[in-house]
Amino acid sequence: MRTLLLAALLAGASPLMAQTAAAPAAAPAPILTTPEAKDVWTYAAPEVARVTHVDLDLAVDFATQTLGGTATLDLLAAPGATEIVLDVDDLDIASITDGAGRPLAWKVGADDPELGAPLTVQLGGAKRLVIAYRTKPGASALQWLPPEMTAGKKQPYLFSQGQPINNRSWIPTQDSPGIRQTWAATLTVPGDLVAVMSAEKLSGDKGEKLADGRRRFAFRMDKAVPPYLIAFAVGDLKFRSLGPRSGVWTEASMLDAAAREFADVEKMIDAASALYGRYRWGRYDMLVLPPAFPYGGMENPMLTFLTPTILTGDRSNTDVVAHELAHSWSGNLVTNATWSDSWLNEGFTTYFENRIMEALYGKERAAMYADLDWDGMIRDIAANGGPTGAATRLHGDPGATAGQLDYFKGSNFLRMIETTVGRDRWDAYLKSYFDRYAFQPQTTAGFLADLRAHLLNGDSALELKLQLDRWAYAAGLPDNAVRVTSETLAAIDQTLAAFNAGGPAKAVDTSGWSTQQWLRFLRGIERQQTPARLKELDAALGLSASSNAYVRSAWLELAIANRYEPALPALRQFAGAVGRGLLIRPLYTGLMKQGEWGAPIARDLFEKSRATYHPSTAAGIEKILKGE
Ligand code: BES
Ligand code: ZN
Repeated sequence: MRTLLLAALLAGASPLMAQTAAAPAAAPAPILTTPEAKDVWTYAAPEVARVTHVDLDLAVDFATQTLGGTATLDLLAAPGATEIVLDVDDLDIASITDGAGRPLAWKVGADDPELGAPLTVQLGGAKRLVIAYRTKPGASALQWLPPEMTAGKKQPYLFSQGQPINNRSWIPTQDSPGIRQTWAATLTVPGDLVAVMSAEKLSGDKGEKLADGRRRFAFRMDKAVPPYLIAFAVGDLKFRSLGPRSGVWTEASMLDAAAREFADVEKMIDAASALYGRYRWGRYDMLVLPPAFPYGGMENPMLTFLTPTILTGDRSNTDVVAHELAHSWSGNLVTNATWSDSWLNEGFTTYFENRIMEALYGKERAAMYADLDWDGMIRDIAANGGPTGAATRLHGDPGATAGQLDYFKGSNFLRMIETTVGRDRWDAYLKSYFDRYAFQPQTTAGFLADLRAHLLNGDSALELKLQLDRWAYAAGLPDNAVRVTSETLAAIDQTLAAFNAGGPAKAVDTSGWSTQQWLRFLRGIERQQTPARLKELDAALGLSASSNAYVRSAWLELAIANRYEPALPALRQFAGAVGRGLLIRPLYTGLMKQGEWGAPIARDLFEKSRATYHPSTAAGIEKILKGE
């Protein structure tokens, strides 16, 4: 009873608010206290005491590869709470005081290699903590790039990647997607660099020049967000406006290419808003990072982070932009309460992304992406135990859903509902769903309950047709899955059949092929090939020399499967230049599958390229090398 009362108090606006010193103007975002919303990837006990606002004041030091300064946290504590627990990973903490500078007792508990450690602070009535600290050079969220790894080759570069639980390596806070916090930050950086963050910019594009030659940039996020969405980058960055609400940041030499590739972004924002409700974040800017960036994109609010590998000149990979933009609703507005429900972020977003692409470019283009996603889903299920494989379940332990099944199976789930109830009814429901849970965490159980209350309305025939629980909780693919097929890709399958039947590589006409056509072709080539045939293929289609990183990655996968040594120089070059996990991990996995031939190559490659990978990518590849 008492716990329930505390939970209710902490979950929303409450009399506690009045006691919170300098709390943000709005009531803190609610937390969920149902059992399935319990996050096993945080040490925090938010029902006892929680962080509502984070204020960072950090200086970036490239020489020592550290950030140093203070984090000021505003707290909301239940009556009688004596302590607060935060998440930290490898931080050097100098001191912790209350808002008036009085020292507080604190202790860092045992360290876990994945989760970091709990930082427990004795409150003594404090409503605010000031933590003075410094990060360590190996901080798991941060990637420090030497000038050689940038486009300009003159200035260093630094960026953060928070999802899922990396931000505790540079911010001492409660690092759980279910504990939303407003935040603000000032970053002090070398005088010739620019800092950007996933927030509203309070200083000008060039910041404020300090007497010592450095520059200071100030930011504010007045909407409560899960802390994994706090992100920054520091580099020799330039900005180009793309429309009234949008623009792109990148290094000068990539600015034209980026602006050309993303010319339709305003239309995407319009299309997304028309589907599922107004865009609530103000601006939508993008940052194109160096190729070491570990993901295709990251949905940092107001400032999507993107890999430069999507700049293929033909706009064929702007589905990634649609995807990150879609997260402004699914993920950033309504957020998975824990990483066990990541499909609520990624599956919803993959579905929504496809709807944006359809709205802008028509059914066939959208069908191409959906068709490839279907292939990916079938591959991922087969590779992870088939229809009964536990890792093919959408909801399970955090991080347990295999491959990209949270994306593919998750989006297919929603596509199936759309097809069953009809688009108009489904779209109206989804729009209302985003409104009902705006700025709140969500669980799988919560979504299903909402769906039953607002879409099914007790229709038991519909309930039977949808098989909601099977989709959400069971392994494999329910039999009502909806497969979308593309005519463009069906034509590629024809070409492929001729090639696989022994037809000459020269007969394959690749002119005007989009990335999706290339991928369908390269992935569909019979895996067993002779060296002569691979040589013919590479010579005719220019695969090793392709400027499209998706093409090179898919080609290298095929070459590795055949132990084709002439491709090794291209592999070495690629592995040291591109850090995007989706393009690089399959190469290491493929090498390890080639036993005594491939494993030594994989280890050598990793040793030489490791310094070019983000810490989380490096950790992932290390697991592949260990056979985990
Ligand atoms: N939020 C993800 C990136 C992510 C996933 C970071 C898991 C950390 C852990 C992002 O929105 C994403 O899905 N990126 C994709 C692109 C998308 C079009 C499939 C990627 O990185 O390739
Ligand atoms: Zn995503």
